[in-house]
Amino acid sequence: MSISESEADLPPNQTPSRANHPRPRGPAQRANALPPTYSRFAPPRSHYPAISSCRSVYAYKRLNHIEEGSYGVVFRAQDLETGDIVALKKLKLDEEKHGFPITSLREIMALMVCKHENVVGIREVVVGDTLTQVFIVMDFIEHDLKTLLTVMPTPFLISEIKTLVHQLLSAVAHCHANWVLHRDLKTSNLLMNNRGQIKVADFGLARKFGDPLGDMTQLVVTLWYRPPELLLGETVYSTAVDIWSVGCVFGELLLNEPLFQAKSEIDMLSLIFKLLGTPTEEIWPGFSKLPLVKTLNISSERRPTLHTKFPHVSDAGLDLLSRLLTYDPEQRITAEEALTHPYFRETPLPQHPDMFRSFPSLAAGEK
Ligand SMILES: Nc1ncnc2c1ncn2[C@@H]1O[C@H](COP(=O)(O)OP(=O)(O)OP(=O)(O)O)[C@@H](O)[C@H]1O
Ligand SMILES: [Mg+2]
Repeated sequence: MSISESEADLPPNQTPSRANHPRPRGPAQRANALPPTYSRFAPPRSHYPAISSCRSVYAYKRLNHIEEGSYGVVFRAQDLETGDIVALKKLKLDEEKHGFPITSLREIMALMVCKHENVVGIREVVVGDTLTQVFIVMDFIEHDLKTLLTVMPTPFLISEIKTLVHQLLSAVAHCHANWVLHRDLKTSNLLMNNRGQIKVADFGLARKFGDPLGDMTQLVVTLWYRPPELLLGETVYSTAVDIWSVGCVFGELLLNEPLFQAKSEIDMLSLIFKLLGTPTEEIWPGFSKLPLVKTLNISSERRPTLHTKFPHVSDAGLDLLSRLLTYDPEQRITAEEALTHPYFRETPLPQHPDMFRSFPSLAAGEK
């Protein structure tokens, strides 16, 4: 029985009946009886201890549905053994004809490789009854920043924004140090708990990168957070793509709305040019040779308008923002460098996470 299908008719807080999973009783079944160490949620051990089986999704009781995204459905659930509240993300495998999809493998791999206090904790992978029912079990985190920004009564304070951005940079620096690109940083993929801690989530587009860098798909990063090199057709890219997205998130926290709300890729480029000025070969060597530059009609040269868009942000804040949103990926600041930027040392200082306000969690059904 799977959470998505057989349980669909049950009230969300009811544990499914285990009627179709009878324990062995009569003599005929006793021949197949499981060893005494059998846990009701774990299959028997294999002959190869290094290859152990996944536990069953029955180890969890479904509480409520949190969200359906493009790669999976997310539920809030409770571990029946420990009582812990967790999030279960069901991977979308239903239409898969070529085995376990690489995107899901990358997501699980990246979560395991990038364990960090600001990356959502993966607990295990559990399975349902069929090969298409695979769930990632994660720590449950009360909010995602996108939802929170829309329901918060007042915007984040500068001191709170500094804490959030600093934590985000720590997580990104950690992923990059472990050779993982996230490739989809945006506010809906940043979770926040009620203790003011950010947890980067949704590694569904993540992948390992190496040296030398090979060609990679340009079809990554949600449009509003996508860097100019990808919009202009670059296929050899690296950690700087994530840093641009961090810049967009920083801008969004300051404005209390997304920085670039574009309708198309062309629109996105024109919004970027409007805010940061038109790029030139001088400030971005190699710009004119990017695959899609010739298709653009860059008529007038524009000047940057960052300071007018953010009139209340200090010089240090604008400096950090413009280093995160630097055109040339080679010159864009790294996460490691950004962590030591003077913005985090000037007043108001970053708020201690313990001092953060707490908010009702929509994901937990609180109003
Ligand atoms: N560990 C978690 N705790 C609480 N809520 C979570 C957790 N993981 C994900 N969510 C919620 O579920 C949403 C979707 O999760 P996620 O981004 O991992 O899925 P996705 O299918 O890849 O989504 P999308 O394609 O929309 O980015 C998140 O925006 C968040 O609101
Ligand atoms: Mg997501």
